[in-house]
Amino acid sequence: MPEDRPQLTNFQMRDIEALLHPYTNAVTHRQVGAHLIESGKGVFVYDEQGRRFIEGMAGLWCAGLGFGDEELIEAAREQLGKLPYYHLFGGRTHEPAIELAEKIKELLPVPMARVFYGSSGSEANDTQVKMIWYYMNAIGKPEKKKIISRRKGYHGVTLVAASMTGLPLNHGAFDLPFDFVKHTTTPHYWREGRDGETEAEFSARCAAELEELILAEGPDTVAAFISEPVMGAGGVIVPPKGYFEAVGAVLKKYDVLWIDDEVICGFGRTGNWFGAETLNMAPTSVSMAKQLTGAYAPLSAVAINQDMADAIEAESGARGSFGHGFTYGGHPLGCAVGVKTLEIYQKRDILFQVRKVAPLFGEKLRSYADHPLVGDVRVCGLMGAIEVSPKKPSAETFAAPGKVGAYLQNRLIEHGVILRAIGDSLAFCPPMIISEAEIEELFAPLETCLDDAMAWAKAEGHME
Ligand SMILES: Cc1ncc(COP(=O)(O)O)c(C=O)c1O
Repeated sequence: MPEDRPQLTNFQMRDIEALLHPYTNAVTHRQVGAHLIESGKGVFVYDEQGRRFIEGMAGLWCAGLGFGDEELIEAAREQLGKLPYYHLFGGRTHEPAIELAEKIKELLPVPMARVFYGSSGSEANDTQVKMIWYYMNAIGKPEKKKIISRRKGYHGVTLVAASMTGLPLNHGAFDLPFDFVKHTTTPHYWREGRDGETEAEFSARCAAELEELILAEGPDTVAAFISEPVMGAGGVIVPPKGYFEAVGAVLKKYDVLWIDDEVICGFGRTGNWFGAETLNMAPTSVSMAKQLTGAYAPLSAVAINQDMADAIEAESGARGSFGHGFTYGGHPLGCAVGVKTLEIYQKRDILFQVRKVAPLFGEKLRSYADHPLVGDVRVCGLMGAIEVSPKKPSAETFAAPGKVGAYLQNRLIEHGVILRAIGDSLAFCPPMIISEAEIEELFAPLETCLDDAMAWAKAEGHME
C-alpha cells in the first residue's frame, strides 16, 4: 500500500467492493475511497464525519429547493400512503399525473398539447427521438430521421441520448454515436470565436455552419435539432447574443423540428420558468426532469406540440397502440412530488428569488475574471462557470486537460464547498433557494483556492 494512501473506512471498503460508480475513475476511486454524504438541510449537506458542505451544484443541477424541505417530504409520504404505484399503460391514469401535466402545459412558454412521462432526462431525450420518428412515419416522411446536436451538448447516456451528447467520454469505447446523429458547432465565443470576430458574427457563423450541415446531409433527411438553452455538463456554455434567433431561422427554413432540452434550465434556473424564454428559443417539443421534482423523486417529462400529438394519436389508432412507455413513467410518487414542487415554486415565488440573488451571484463570478488563472467566466441566472487557462487571455488549453480543474475542485472540498470541475471549467449551480449570505459563503474560499491551484499548476509544470 502506498504510504500516502489514506486509511479507508469500513463504508469505503464496502463501497469499493459493491459498487461501480457512474462518472468515476474506478482506479483512482479504489485508492481514495468514496465520500459518504449522510444528510442535508437547505443548501448544505453533511458527511458521515459530521462535516458541513455548501452544495454549490444542487447535487447534479437538480435539488433546486435544497435538502430537507418538509412540504415535499410530506407530499411524498401522503402519496405513498394513498397510491404508491400505478402506471399509465392501456389508458389507466391517476390524478397526480393529470394535474402535473396540466401544470406543465400552463407554465411552458410555447403552446404544447401533450405530456409524456419517463424517469430520467436520458429517457426523455430518447423518447423525443422515438416520437419524432413515429411522427415522421405517420406523416409520410420516413426518410426524415437524422438528428443534429452540438459538440459539448449533454443529453444523457442511454444509447440515443449519449449519441446526441457531444462529449468524447460518452462515445469512445461505447461504439457511439449512432450514424443518424450529426454534431455541429459549440456556441462558445471565447473558445470557438475567431480573431476579430464579434459575438454577432460568431452567432451568424454558427447558424451558417448548421445550415451547411443540413444541406450536406440533405434537408429531407434531417428531422430535428436538439439544444439545451445553456449547455450544462459541457461546461456551462452560455450562447452568444443572437445565436438562437439565427439558428431558429435556419431550422424554420428547412422544416427541421426543434427539441428544447430543459433538463437543467427548466423551472427557474435562468430566472424564467424555462431557458427557452431567457435565450429566445422556439421549440416544437421540450424535455424536462431534475428541478421538475426538486430531485426528491425521479421523474422526467416530454411535451409535444399539437401537430405532433395529432399525428401520433392517429398513428396509434392505425397501429392498435402507441408502442412506447416505461413501467415507472408517470410514477405517482414523482408526479405528486412534481405537483408540490411547482406549487412551492409559485407560492414562494422562486422566479423572484432567483432574480433577486442572481445579480450577486453573477457579480461574484465575474469578480474572478481578472485572476491570472481565469480565462473565461460565464453566467446565466443561477448557473455559471469559471474556466482556468494556462495562457490568459488566450483560450489555449492545458497540455494535460482537467488536472487543474480537479485540483481546484478538491481544494474547495477541503474548504467545505462542493462544486464540479468539468475539465478545466469549475461549474456553479446552487439550489435556487440560496440566500445572499450563503452566496458569500459559497465564494469565500475561491480566491485562496485559485491562488493555490496556480501555484500548484506552476510547480507541476502545467503552466509557466
Ligand atoms: C441537459 C441534460 N439533458 C439530459 C440529461 C440526462 O438526464 P439523466 O441523468 O436524468 O438521464 C442531463 C443530465 O445531467 C442534462 O443535464
